[in-house]
Amino acid sequence: MSADPHVLAICGSLREHSKTRTALREALDAAAESGATTELLDLREYDLPPVNADDMAAGDADALRERVAAADAVLLGTPNYHGSYAAPLKNALDYCKRDQFGGTTVGLLEVAGGSYPKPALAHLRGVARTLNAWTLPHEVGIPDSHETVGRDGITDPAIERRVRELGEQLVEYAGVDRYPEMAEERGDQPAEATGRA
Ligand SMILES: Cc1cc2nc3c(=O)[nH]c(=O)nc-3n(C[C@H](O)[C@H](O)[C@H](O)COP(=O)(O)O)c2cc1C
Repeated sequence: MSADPHVLAICGSLREHSKTRTALREALDAAAESGATTELLDLREYDLPPVNADDMAAGDADALRERVAAADAVLLGTPNYHGSYAAPLKNALDYCKRDQFGGTTVGLLEVAGGSYPKPALAHLRGVARTLNAWTLPHEVGIPDSHETVGRDGITDPAIERRVRELGEQLVEYAGVDRYPEMAEERGDQPAEATGRA
């Protein structure tokens, strides 16, 4: 883990009472309790017109890229919209490049109204990998959002535990890209030297 890692969450839902945002807040609370500084980037506060590749500095694009680049770990949260992730998040990601996401630890969370919350996770994972991010194997898909997430928090204890574990792992694995250098600085022996190959 990096010292004092900074964890940034981005929510793909623009709804005022978004269940995705509620779940992201829970994960960020767990990250903060694990020693991180945290930030919820609210896309409603960013002027991000639909991407026009001729004008990648449009609106608040520079500010968005700056926030992502400053994070040691990024949590991407999205509602399931028609079996994939939400357009506002796609638009935000399209303003970013490997310059911002390369080597960054990324956690994924999806919230679905129905009982099948997995497709958006797979789609987001592919995009994050294309941006050279390190995606955490522990992903969270929340089904039946009308029953499992209330106004004030997650109401299903098992889902709440998974979400909090995601927040904790973002802290544990923040800066994972620098682990080899950190091991070298600590003077760790390579595996073959210790017979643990
Ligand atoms: C345009 C749209 C498409 C949706 N498509 C699906 C879907 O394919 N499968 C599903 O389970 N839920 C679907 N939902 C329901 C949302 O995933 C669900 O209400 C979720 O909690 C919304 O997240 P939010 O509260 O963060 O906005 C859809 C909702 C909208 C508005």
